[in-house]
Amino acid sequence: MSGFRYVGGELCCEEVSLARLAAEHGTPLYVYSANAVRENYRRLSGAFAPLKPLICFAVKANFNLSVLRLLREEGAGFDIVSGGELYRALRAGADPARIVFAGVGKTDAELSEALKAGVGWVNLESADEAARLNALAAAQGQRATVALRLNPGVDPATHHHIRTGGAGSKFGIPVAEALALAAHWSDFPALDLRGAHLHIGSQVPNAAPTLVAIEIALGFMRQVPGLTTLDLGGGFPVAYRESDNFPPIEAFAATLVERLRPLAGQYHFHLEPGRYLVANSGAMVTTVQAVKDVAGRRTLVVDAGMQTLLRPALYDAYHRAAPLEGTEGAETVTTDVVGPICESADVLARERALPRLRPGGQLALLDAGAYGFAMASQYNSQPRPAEVLVDGSQARVTRRRERYEDLVELEEVQETRELGTQRTEGFEGAPWQWEDDGAIARQARRGKGYNGEKGVRGAGRE
Ligand code: LLP
Repeated sequence: MSGFRYVGGELCCEEVSLARLAAEHGTPLYVYSANAVRENYRRLSGAFAPLKPLICFAVKANFNLSVLRLLREEGAGFDIVSGGELYRALRAGADPARIVFAGVGKTDAELSEALKAGVGWVNLESADEAARLNALAAAQGQRATVALRLNPGVDPATHHHIRTGGAGSKFGIPVAEALALAAHWSDFPALDLRGAHLHIGSQVPNAAPTLVAIEIALGFMRQVPGLTTLDLGGGFPVAYRESDNFPPIEAFAATLVERLRPLAGQYHFHLEPGRYLVANSGAMVTTVQAVKDVAGRRTLVVDAGMQTLLRPALYDAYHRAAPLEGTEGAETVTTDVVGPICESADVLARERALPRLRPGGQLALLDAGAYGFAMASQYNSQPRPAEVLVDGSQARVTRRRERYEDLVELEEVQETRELGTQRTEGFEGAPWQWEDDGAIARQARRGKGYNGEKGVRGAGRE
């Protein structure tokens, strides 16, 4: 169930008309179906039940506190990739022991916060990160349970921006390196190495590449004593087009369960689904501002764009476009839907069969619940939209629309401090001209002002 369907000619989220929500809250507007999220969680959890996995929702897909709380109530833990996501997960009432912390560039501050919060697992992505976490844990008198994120060298057939498992990817540690790291684990006395972590990509079309990666991870686990847990990551696919033909989650899971069930007495399992749990639970509602004929194609200029829903511009992603007023039987015409942003990439939908919407007409881009609002920005100083959560016949604003004041709030200058260096005394002209006109070298030759310190622009040249 997606939570969105036509009732009496009106597109509804559960029992609530989207046109009514748009009238009340304005557009662009994100609307989510609570029951779709619940149902997705229950389906995924049922499909993997024989493995009794800890299901950690990938917060990056949809970070709204109300969505996180809803998933927590269903029993989810959380997969986080930043201190900000840790903060959100804790604010949503997460049990820190049910949080896994992944991410290729965790800072000392973030690692330290994770230690203080007592997150269950840190998924390490490099030897340097292991060394830094070990030092921080030792200094804080704590221990950390960790997994090594492996790069199994398996490349799923998905969009090149969301592949993470292949050679040449910045993610994870190649298996040979991970084995060498594990062999010297005594270097990290504050870290308990207990697991292997995989995440080979997002929107992975079927279970086959994951199965290959699992085999590689199991080989690693057999060679490293003391490992208890295999984290399979996320990546479960969602059908965005009518023609998308991915295996249902039950079939995807069955392939993995079949392989791993014999090991269920020996190992624990983690999953990190993002997209699957929330994508079809969300729609982004927008209003037509103008209708143009662009090279013979009907083009709707709407009040949402790449700043509201980035996926079409960034990945050529497809989101179904559905008019809020049902148009069954109405004549359709090939239509593009574009946003207001000053970028040619700002196209939300291309060549769709849509009825002749006019200014004021409204449509929804479906399956926008994952990586939709999460990747929205204020580009062109467009305040980000409101989010509404529908549960049956009830609707609640879970994030208010940003206001113009929100756009500038962080920019009001508090104080100006004098931080210039004496070294620049005696120079004519502004420092940004030095490199261009060779003045720095001339000044240095004349022995005026410039002391040629290491690391200073232009020092030691000529
Ligand atoms: N675990 C890790 C370590 C990840 O990096 C990700 C996603 C997930 C889990 C969740 O993957 P999912 O189940 O959602 O496929 N912005 C892109 C997707 C980027 C995914 C990044 N990592 C999009 O809109 O398609």
